[in-house]
Amino acid sequence: MSGRDLVSVGDLTEDTVVRLLDLAQEFAGGREASTVANGALLATLFYEPSTRTRFSFEAAMLRLGGGVLSAAEMASSSAAKGESLHDAMRVVSTYADVIVVRHPRAGAGRVAARAARVPVGNAGDGAREHPTQALLDLFTLRIETGRLRGLAVALVGDLRHARTAHSLALLLARFETRLHCVAPQALQLPGPILARLQELGTAPVLHDSLEEPWGDDGAPLLSHVDAVYVTRLQRERFASADEYARVRAHYYLTPETLAGAREDCVFLHPLPRAGELDPRVDTDRRAAYFRQAGYGVPVRMAVLAAMLGMVPLDWRTEAPAIVATQQQCTDEHCITQ
Ligand code: NCD
Repeated sequence: MSGRDLVSVGDLTEDTVVRLLDLAQEFAGGREASTVANGALLATLFYEPSTRTRFSFEAAMLRLGGGVLSAAEMASSSAAKGESLHDAMRVVSTYADVIVVRHPRAGAGRVAARAARVPVGNAGDGAREHPTQALLDLFTLRIETGRLRGLAVALVGDLRHARTAHSLALLLARFETRLHCVAPQALQLPGPILARLQELGTAPVLHDSLEEPWGDDGAPLLSHVDAVYVTRLQRERFASADEYARVRAHYYLTPETLAGAREDCVFLHPLPRAGELDPRVDTDRRAAYFRQAGYGVPVRMAVLAAMLGMVPLDWRTEAPAIVATQQQCTDEHCITQ
């Protein structure tokens, strides 16, 4: 472990989060960046599909004046010959100054960071975490609402499997957010994430629908929130096609279902969408998801600059474990199994 890994949002102190957002804002505003990474190399190892995360990490590194080593897909690497993540990280550490890895197994980010000799960024480990997405989601919220603290945010969709929702909930919990989790019971946030949120002092309110009456006036929840964050049904993480079919039609957001949202509400989605968000919403000025995707570059520029040690920030070396990632985790999808 390098001491500058970003595996979980728990690796960052609150002050570091704010400083990363400020730095991202400077990069977005045109701060000269072309010598920040000074020819350093980023290796991207993606064992799962990606468009936004990989391209924006690579664009970020190139804009910082660094270079990029990237396998088009890991099937064309030695992973196809059965090489372990551990061995791949040991080897790639000798070629690159920083590594970004995405893997289908929960806990893979921590395993990769332990094996590597250079800083490792987790670009999504199974259904567990996706910390840089959460940073860019928070950045978007700050830009779009002008605030970071005290927001009321509704997370909607497949909160059980969506790693972006896990990281975002854990990050928002540090900023006095009122969290509303809207999902059928089978897709609510996993127990360990709920428990960690409780420890952080932010017990989210669980709802079945955005239409549910809420607050003293009993108006629909939707009319009370500053942001609606929608996630895709993570089809690839369902145990069976039957289980997926049961929840498939549960939510679909349209201009009609979002009609009761406040004028200054912000609609976010980490993308890709897959049938839960009507494209007719795109022309609504509250729809911020394409702007959100664009913020991936300045935010990842800030993250890479920090991981490379180019800007001095505090890192938590002993991040609190959300789910045990030591020897044998109880999560059956964990890489330790
Ligand atoms: C997300 C992911 O990979 O977790 N995509 C992203 O990084 N923007 C969301 C998803 O796949 O649903």
